[in-house]
Amino acid sequence: MSVDSVLNPFSSIATADIDKLRARLLELNYQEATFHKILPAFMQGDPTLGGAFPVLQHIKTPDPGLATMILLFVGELPVAETDCRVALGEALFEALLAADFLKRSEAGTITCPLALISIKDIYIVADRATDNSPELVKHLVMAAGPSSVTLANATPRRRVRKALDIGCGGGVQSLQLAKHVDHVVGVDINERALNLGRFAAQLSGAANIDFRYSDFFSAVEGEKFDLIVANPPFVISPESTSQYRDGGLGGDRVTETVIRNAGAFLEEGGISVTVCEWASLLGASANERMQQWTAGNGCDVWISYGTPVEPSRYALTWLQGDQRRLSLAEYSRKYDRWVAHYEALGMQSMQTGLVVMRKRTGENWFYADEAPDEMRGQWGSTLLMMFDLLDNIKNSSLDQLLDQSYRLAPQARMRHLLAQDGARWGQISAELLLEEPLNYTGRVDHHIAKLCARCDGTVTLRQLLLELAESVGRPFEKILDAAMPVLMGLLTRGFLIPASIVPPVKETAPTA
Ligand SMILES: C[S@@+](CC[C@H](N)C(=O)[O-])C[C@H]1O[C@@H](n2cnc3c(N)ncnc32)[C@H](O)[C@@H]1O
Repeated sequence: MSVDSVLNPFSSIATADIDKLRARLLELNYQEATFHKILPAFMQGDPTLGGAFPVLQHIKTPDPGLATMILLFVGELPVAETDCRVALGEALFEALLAADFLKRSEAGTITCPLALISIKDIYIVADRATDNSPELVKHLVMAAGPSSVTLANATPRRRVRKALDIGCGGGVQSLQLAKHVDHVVGVDINERALNLGRFAAQLSGAANIDFRYSDFFSAVEGEKFDLIVANPPFVISPESTSQYRDGGLGGDRVTETVIRNAGAFLEEGGISVTVCEWASLLGASANERMQQWTAGNGCDVWISYGTPVEPSRYALTWLQGDQRRLSLAEYSRKYDRWVAHYEALGMQSMQTGLVVMRKRTGENWFYADEAPDEMRGQWGSTLLMMFDLLDNIKNSSLDQLLDQSYRLAPQARMRHLLAQDGARWGQISAELLLEEPLNYTGRVDHHIAKLCARCDGTVTLRQLLLELAESVGRPFEKILDAAMPVLMGLLTRGFLIPASIVPPVKETAPTA
């Protein structure tokens, strides 16, 4: 494969033919919503359909053309040429074949070298990880992986003027942004990714994305954005094999580069959301380092971080995928190289997280909290609410917090754990949890549990604590000292919401 054909595949395909392909896909209902109806439940929610290809061979669709498209574009399976001609129509079939978007095998069947995936109502095209040529491995364009989904779900979907997608790859974020942002700039150093992104934008009918070659922020110097999203190649390693995974900067410099710079490109009130990984060093915890990287950038910072893992486990997690391709000796050498890299940098543990920044004039705050057990569905408007909650806490004295009334979040639930107690079940603990979107849990005693249930937005927290003090016959100050640490946790995590803040309604996908 020539470098040119790697960087600009299907350059000969006419825009009109991409439009025809789009029209045909829409006509066949080649869309995620349709897949949900016809595929078994275990394959849903995963745009690559979990690689369960044999299942696809047995799917039943109202139009056989749809089954052919699913086998060809998602299933990585060869289809009969006659079926493909019927599904696409003669003229379009010939055009796609001539442009190498379709390939004829010696056995006379047809395959597609790319995956064409429907996410909600957009189309993305991505590489299959089957070709091992170094040039293609370097420029591989990933489909939507777990980090892509995490980022897309966290992204606030309010309408804004201008957004930047750092490391846009094949455009999975940019295309979703294009639904609620007037003008999207997607930047990447991978020309192949940019070209596949342009192809996908045409295929998705999105005309408001500007795909630019850029080393991080280099091609947007001087520009400001209302929203920045980044799913950079954050894997902490000494590698530079694949651009989508290895930033090639060593250590966690990719995360540092994005975090250190994003603030300067935000409009006042603008938000950046970055999914990334970073390490703790001897003498500096991961969150302290993040605080150093963001200090003085004019942004409030909200971080949700996962459980830190030790370097050897981190290396194994990322190297697992390579195990199949390498001999035992090669695999061991690679592992040793990664671990030596961490040792040389003094890395103690690694963590994954979402780093969200909001540009705001004034004294900025920094808040880092452990990630909830799960982040369910789209929750960008809840993310915006978390900033409102933190603003309220940071701007209020204790008295001001006590004199507000709060509502218990509509998604709050109480879970009791019971154990045998004589001849009956006795309660041993109670846990307050948020069902969605941020599935936080927290132990509470029955006094706090009762207090939370009374939070209906009409009674101040002070009043509720005074009543509690009276009911247990203890001074208010003592009750305050005991209850406040727990209550602060409930306030910052959104269990208790000030009556002045309206909690968001459950989110659905953005539409144009
Ligand atoms: C993990 S992929 C993310 C792709 C897509 N945005 C998503 O969410 O699935 C990281 C992307 O960052 C790009 N990248 C790597 N180094 C970069 C750099 N120095 N500047 C800009 N983009 C870069 C890679 O080519 C790749 O497309």
